[in-house]
Amino acid sequence: MKRDLISMLDVKDDLEEIIDLGIKLKQKSKRGRSIELMKGKTLGMIFEKSSTRTRVSFEVGMTKLGGHAIFLSTNDIQLGRGETIEDTALVLSRYVDIIMYRAKNNQDMKELAKYSTKPVISGLDDKEHPCQVITDLMTIKEKKGSLKGLNFVYIGDGNNNMAHSYLLGCGIVGMNVKIVAPKKYWSDGYYVEKAKKFGVNVEVTDNIEGSTKNTDIIATDTWISMGDEAEKVKRIKDFQGYSIDEHLMSLANPDAIFMHCLPAYYDYEVTKEVAHGKQSVIFDEAENRLWAQIGIMVTLTNQ
Ligand code: CP
Ligand code: NVA
Repeated sequence: MKRDLISMLDVKDDLEEIIDLGIKLKQKSKRGRSIELMKGKTLGMIFEKSSTRTRVSFEVGMTKLGGHAIFLSTNDIQLGRGETIEDTALVLSRYVDIIMYRAKNNQDMKELAKYSTKPVISGLDDKEHPCQVITDLMTIKEKKGSLKGLNFVYIGDGNNNMAHSYLLGCGIVGMNVKIVAPKKYWSDGYYVEKAKKFGVNVEVTDNIEGSTKNTDIIATDTWISMGDEAEKVKRIKDFQGYSIDEHLMSLANPDAIFMHCLPAYYDYEVTKEVAHGKQSVIFDEAENRLWAQIGIMVTLTNQ
């Protein structure tokens, strides 16, 4: 039975095992040892949206695993000219061993997974960004030693893919999660309710004042996700007052870390002083995309 990763809920039973595998293979590779666990395997990577980290980390990850990755932009493949997702999935499944898909919407992601006979990994859609959140939890575990009981706050667009995957990811590993966003950007209730079911404290608020007190991790993301460009002017206005600056960081626990999946837009969701400051782990996070996804690909192809 093939296994997909489209939502954080797809890893609810073995999330920490995947994280630990990523950490173990990172350490092994850094010691100069081979991690060629997917020799001769091929990853097909379909991109409907731009990417720097996802594209490069999946491709390098596959190389480290002894396999090969193929970059498939919808500008070039027949999917972009109207071939169905169903036929694309059925054809690619005959060639490749695993598929990564960065999709405009979650319906298309589910459709590809439905018809693919090989595991499908989301490289982001409009609802979730699970690879990034698994990476972030791995980074937190490396920095803090463990995850359970930590206090996580996300400030910014609460209704985007990162916020939704953070809600589920924090719930699964037992971290308390707070989403701070203007009311019209509050998270989809589905993700809030799912997170609560894991028994952690879940709070959604528009009150940024003092919101970082007693916090171990402060995270944000762009106010204008891919696909939201038409609303840019409105969003910049709506999010005024929700920038993370040194004052907000100073209210958090002294060893708090700052996270951002990148790309960042300085002086909007965060100042450059914070993003490049001593509490920031944004470039460790970017690196860990590589190692977390190695853990994910090995896990999904070994079911
Ligand atoms: N964080 C992330 O997914 O970055 P890219 O859009 O560059 O892949
Ligand atoms: N929320 C952002 C994440 C980019 C990695 C977007 O969807 O554009």
